[in-house]
This record gives sequence, C-alpha cells and structure tokens, in this order.
Amino acid sequence: MVTILIVLGIGISVAALILTLLGCAALIKQARAGAAPAAEMIDTMPTIALIGKGTYPAEPGVLLNTLWEHLPNAECQAGECGGCKVRLVEGRVRWIRDPVAEVDRRTHVLACSCEAQGSVRCALN
Ligand code: FES
Repeated sequence: MVTILIVLGIGISVAALILTLLGCAALIKQARAGAAPAAEMIDTMPTIALIGKGTYPAEPGVLLNTLWEHLPNAECQAGECGGCKVRLVEGRVRWIRDPVAEVDRRTHVLACSCEAQGSVRCALN
C-alpha cells in the first residue's frame, strides 16, 4: 500500500512538473508571438524626414508638430506667414486649410497646414 502511494505521489509530482513546464513553454511562445506584430508596427510607423536634419516618428496632426524645432520662422501656425514652408520631396500630404501665404502646392507645403498621409520626406529649400 505504501509503495502504491509513493508511486502515485511521484507520478503526480512528475505530471505536475511536466504540466508546469508545458505551461511555461506556452506562455513563452505566446509572448514571442505577441512581440512580433509590435516590432512590425514600429517598422511601419509613419515618419517625417527633413533632409539634412533627421527622420522622426510622425506626431499626430500637421507636419509642424513633428518639425517645429527645425522651423523657427513658423510663427502663425495658421497658413499666413509662410515661415513653415518646406519642399515635399516624397510622400503625400492632406491640406487641412487653404493658406493665405503663397506656396506652390506642386512642390511645396506649409507644415502648419498639412497632415502627412504616411511617411514623408521634406527639404528646407
Ligand atoms: S507657421 Fe505661418 S504659415 Fe505655417
């Protein structure tokens, strides 16, 4: 009888150990599977590049929210002064207002008046 209890006790202990290890393995696998999309999301986050200055994760809203430190003449933030004008080298933007400042919309944008539609590259000239 004692032998049977010992064998059962060891069996239960071994089974518990195996189940614990399997549970840990499942948790590790789940954590790894969950981490992969996050890494992909980081790779696909829109960026705003200003040639010669750097590339930055796109802040929500207008381009100026990302590029403000490089555009010290952006005074009005309303499309009036033209101080935030940059050349659009690559990417698409959406104008959120009709600006008062003159700008050739075929080549340039006002950072205070445009939102990036995905990643964008701009230049200061
Ligand atoms: S900050 Fe004045 S036009 Fe953009």
